[in-house]
Amino acid sequence: MNYRHAFHAGNFADILKHVVLSLCFEHLKKKPQAFRYIDSHSGIGVYDLSGDEAQRSPEWRDGIARLVAQTTIPKGPKSVLRPYLDAVKSLNKGAELSHYPGSPGLAAAMMRDIDRAHLCELHEADAKTLDARFAKDARIKVEKRDGYKALPKILPPREKRGVVLVDPPFEHRDEMAHMAEAAIKAFEAWPTGTFIFWRPLKDLWAQERFDVGFAEWLIAEKQVLPEKVLRADLWVRDLESEGRLAGAGVFIVNPPYTLEDDLVTLLPWLSELLAQGEGAGWRVDGGFTEESLTTEEF
Ligand SMILES: C[S@@+](CC[C@H](N)C(=O)[O-])C[C@H]1O[C@@H](n2cnc3c(N)ncnc32)[C@H](O)[C@@H]1O
Repeated sequence: MNYRHAFHAGNFADILKHVVLSLCFEHLKKKPQAFRYIDSHSGIGVYDLSGDEAQRSPEWRDGIARLVAQTTIPKGPKSVLRPYLDAVKSLNKGAELSHYPGSPGLAAAMMRDIDRAHLCELHEADAKTLDARFAKDARIKVEKRDGYKALPKILPPREKRGVVLVDPPFEHRDEMAHMAEAAIKAFEAWPTGTFIFWRPLKDLWAQERFDVGFAEWLIAEKQVLPEKVLRADLWVRDLESEGRLAGAGVFIVNPPYTLEDDLVTLLPWLSELLAQGEGAGWRVDGGFTEESLTTEEF
């Protein structure tokens, strides 16, 4: 386990993932009933941008730093970004950007007193840091535990509504296959939950196989309506280009009904703002085609 999210916190991929998560929380908060947030791969919760890792990495400067430097954001993107940017601001009291909320930090900033979070992190030191951060927060339970193995055991939660984030580090070549296996078990345990699966646009064959295979399984085998399956991706330069990760996104099951429109409003503007070269772009779709739903390949 060599992956350290502190080198990547606040990059373009975090922005898309965390905006989607913030919109899920915002939607859940429209009803008075409590919700549960489950994070299978939590990281350390909040990232110090003046820390050694962030200072050695330029990623957040091309991500969240560009976004918060915008003095005027067009009306549509501004309203979609509001819950996310409010959470970022709540960690940065002064004008300067010093801290970035990871998914647990975002959850803690957006949850109400009645809502609960269950966070899993397998890395020894990171799990300790995460536990220490939320030790006094009665809403949040932290476990040093394999998130994949935990999901079928901790789902469904007592609350009827909620969101699960599966955000592995993709250090190993077979991570996509592990995630697919976990995705199926987790959905079977809680078919009404909202699920967000993060995946890099790196091995495009494996990512497409995850998206199309999972979408088809949900629709054909589990009678999930096609509009309950959504994916959103952002790439900051040509996906074929060398160097750092060029693109990433999320595959969502049971999204809030407003999420697709929100992302279509946001992503054209965001992809231009975060572009790092030729060929930047975005997409929002169901991760399947009419044709793929009728083939027997998957
Ligand atoms: C991409 S980071 C998570 C970032 C976090 N979700 C966020 O958005 O701020 C992935 C994390 O998963 C942890 N990890 C790796 N394998 C794991 C496993 N099987 N179960 C739980 N955590 C794991 C890593 O130590 C790392 O902190």
